[in-house]
Amino acid sequence: MKLLITGGAGFIGSALVRMAVAGGHEVVNLDLLTYAGNLDNVASVASHPRYRFVQGDIADETLVEALVADSKPDAILHLAAESHVDRSIHSPKPVIQTNLVGTFTLLEAARKLKVPRFVHVSTDEVYGSLEAPLEADETFPLQSSSPYSSSKAGSDLLALSYFKTFGMNVSVTRASNNYGPFQFPEKLIPLMISNALEDKPLPVYGDGQQVRDWLYVDDHCRGILAVLTKGRAGEIYNIGGNCSLPNIEVVHRILKITGKPESLITRVADRPGHDRRYALSSAKLERETGWAPQMNFDEGLQATIDWYRNNAAWIARVKSGAYREFYEKNYSNR
Ligand code: NAD
Ligand code: DAU
Repeated sequence: MKLLITGGAGFIGSALVRMAVAGGHEVVNLDLLTYAGNLDNVASVASHPRYRFVQGDIADETLVEALVADSKPDAILHLAAESHVDRSIHSPKPVIQTNLVGTFTLLEAARKLKVPRFVHVSTDEVYGSLEAPLEADETFPLQSSSPYSSSKAGSDLLALSYFKTFGMNVSVTRASNNYGPFQFPEKLIPLMISNALEDKPLPVYGDGQQVRDWLYVDDHCRGILAVLTKGRAGEIYNIGGNCSLPNIEVVHRILKITGKPESLITRVADRPGHDRRYALSSAKLERETGWAPQMNFDEGLQATIDWYRNNAAWIARVKSGAYREFYEKNYSNR
């Protein structure tokens, strides 16, 4: 298939681009290259004959319409986003612009130019915090807490409205917390790994008992491709890792594998509006497509830590730009 993938220079998008090209698809990667986008992440496919990179903003109507008209994709897989909750709290404007206006711009281009399929990639955060032992299925109410999750919830509804109102072939995926190689070191797992490797403090928010469900990035990408080919129009599909852990337990495991002392753990102020527990059921995706997560967490964590150990130059490069400026300004307690 001819795929237009947005956000394909980011963490999950680049894994999807690599997987799609390897799987025989033709890929156009549209990415603005914000602080989170990095062409190193797609270097392995850069000169592949079935791959093309276009730098641009998904909210740029002229550029998006020209690109869709020119590339005539069979499907748009939409991942471009401002994806970090903490940034969305400190600086919500780009989050609203990209996640809402950008998604709208892509949907409009797809509608006008009759793109046959649209997969909007979203998050379990839209279900908000759930008391144990509840697990959200796709019918759960939306209870977003942060500007990030609210923007994703809004964009999910917008995408689904293009199915209901215009009959577009749209599906929405909602995945849990991803981890794996090439993740920008601002999210829990890559931040803790890179700090541990550099003997820096590991900042745990609040009591560290918040629970997340961990999904290996390649399992997520296989789920998105399963929805692309087997998912039904107008439907939402959860994609979970079946691996719920409190944050502090994840941090302990990272310290154990890296051989670093527990004394690196530093308790810091909690995230405002912090959701206590996410949990979701992927039964619908499993039932309808045969998908199931394949990576065991301990093996995935080991592989991820090995990757960060062997890619110190990548970490240094991504940290040397806007990341460092932003974090030094806003998170001086790190
Ligand atoms: P990321 O921050 O690593 O990458 C986002 C990419 O989007 C970057 O390459 C960036 O340059 C690009 N981008 C940002 N604004 C853009 C714009 N206006 N125009 C074009 N490109 C732009 O994000 P990620 O973690 O890979 O997440 C990808 C998608 O998956 C997001 O939609 C996110 O909401 C969703 N998601 C992420 C997770 C997770 O755990 N990381 C879980 C579930 C869903
Ligand atoms: O659930 C899916 C979501 O997972 C995605 O939609 C988001 O794009 C992705 O960023 C992620 O959101 P979280 O807020 O859950 O991920 P983050 O890695 O930022 O935080 C995970 C947990 O770890 C959360 O409870 C906050 C905590 N945390 C995070 C950081 C960065 C810390 O305790 N210390 C930290 O330094």
